[in-house]
Amino acid sequence: MTAFGKLIRTTAFRLTLVYLFLFALFAASLLGYFAWNTRRLINEQITTTVNGEIAEITDLYNRRGLWRLAGTLGTRALRPGANLYLVTTPEGRAFGGNVESLSPGVMASTGWSETAYRRLDEQDTANHRALVRVTELSNGFRLLVGRDLEERRRLFGIVANAAQWSLLVVIVLGLGGGIFVARRVLRRIDAMTGTTQRIMAGDLTGRLPVGRSGDELDRLAENLNAMLERIEALMAGLKEVSDNIAHDLKTPLTRLRNRAEEALAKSGCEADYRAALERTIEESDGLIRTFNALLMIARAESGQARGNMDDFDAADVAGGIHELYEPLAEDDGMTLKVKTQTAPLHGNRELIGQALANLVENAIKYGKPDAETAGTVVSMDARQITIEAKREGDQVLLSVTDRGPGIPEVDRKHVVERFVRLEASRTMPGSGLGLSLASAVATLHGGELRLGDAQPGLVATLALPARAGAGDRVAPPIPDVPQKVA
Ligand SMILES: Nc1ncnc2c1ncn2[C@@H]1O[C@H](COP(=O)(O)OP(=O)(O)OP(=O)(O)O)[C@@H](O)[C@H]1O
Ligand SMILES: [Mg+2]
Repeated sequence: MTAFGKLIRTTAFRLTLVYLFLFALFAASLLGYFAWNTRRLINEQITTTVNGEIAEITDLYNRRGLWRLAGTLGTRALRPGANLYLVTTPEGRAFGGNVESLSPGVMASTGWSETAYRRLDEQDTANHRALVRVTELSNGFRLLVGRDLEERRRLFGIVANAAQWSLLVVIVLGLGGGIFVARRVLRRIDAMTGTTQRIMAGDLTGRLPVGRSGDELDRLAENLNAMLERIEALMAGLKEVSDNIAHDLKTPLTRLRNRAEEALAKSGCEADYRAALERTIEESDGLIRTFNALLMIARAESGQARGNMDDFDAADVAGGIHELYEPLAEDDGMTLKVKTQTAPLHGNRELIGQALANLVENAIKYGKPDAETAGTVVSMDARQITIEAKREGDQVLLSVTDRGPGIPEVDRKHVVERFVRLEASRTMPGSGLGLSLASAVATLHGGELRLGDAQPGLVATLALPARAGAGDRVAPPIPDVPQKVA
């Protein structure tokens, strides 16, 4: 498309054309109204003067006769800017006045008409126009009195001239303005198109140019830039997650393959093969668990699990998890306690149960007191893990507290990311997905996972919004009018 073609297709230019048309129409109607009114006014003026003179002359004729009339017309015709006068005999011949010729048939009928005329005292041969009135005098004589229309014609000329010029000025200014605005808009849109093409070609760092005027295009560019920023961050996050997944799954898969190879190369008897296969199954189970955890996180993060929500009491979930993990904790030399009060929730029970279970598993795995790892005997108190479910304001808090080493403040944000494990716990089995799932579940429910210091130990809390309207103590209404006390 040519540059001009692009220009006239812009909204700015088309709007200008519409405004131009409306403005020209307005100017034309204004001038038209002015011209029409002026013409009416001039006609009115002429009629009044002519009527007055006819009345005077007729009166004179009636009182003094024909010869007096001829004399008066002679003197009147000599006055500057005089009217037209003509008296004709019953045979139609001129008897007096200052008119040399008229359009044919003017004297034949009485009343008002417009006619071309020539005066007796005029040298030029040009025909002028006049508005005239013919009246019948007694004895078949006729009297014509009229006024030249030159003034009206000149005024029309001025108005027509003004209309032409103003139309020209409107068109030139309007088109100029339209082209100027359209070109400015086009230049900015072209700059934006250039950037978007770069972005579409894969360069996500591109940003739309933002001017200083703060107009609608600037605001649009700012919003699109904010959107691009968000998309870039999401893409970077996605890339990091897929890199992490690829990296973290590669290690166990390589291990699995190497073990199988080793078994093939070294094992001699059936028992060896059996042991190798059992280890392979164990390793594969671990991989399947990791995949399941990843799928569950994806389900929670995408919001898919929202369809599966119902009302329940978080205290029941805490009780269930306590029952399930108490024997496991005991086997590990820990005690698992539970403290609950009614905590109404609306959510995905299975996911919240899984998130709490992950926190309890962590407490059992990592929550052993520091001193124990150093070989010192510690009290039972230091081996205690507490699960707590309670309601606080409009939140339900589901927490797990242990007396172990805790997580240093600097690592607390980082540790909820996928596959992140702290150096101190590398020796324990795990894939670094437990806290990610707990955090994703909390976010899905509009809450958050808080990691705090239990001095010593870690307190991990799922802070979730309580179910609205459940168990709320409603304050009695305060009456507007003081009540009478009985
Ligand atoms: N109660 C805790 N005390 C001390 N450190 C903890 C505790 N809970 C978690 N951590 C640290 O946070 C890391 C991440 O925990 P997360 O539950 O996400 O993964 P994991 O337990 O290592 O593996 P997974 O839960 O997937 O089996 C752990 O590796 C550990 O270093
Ligand atoms: Mg864990």
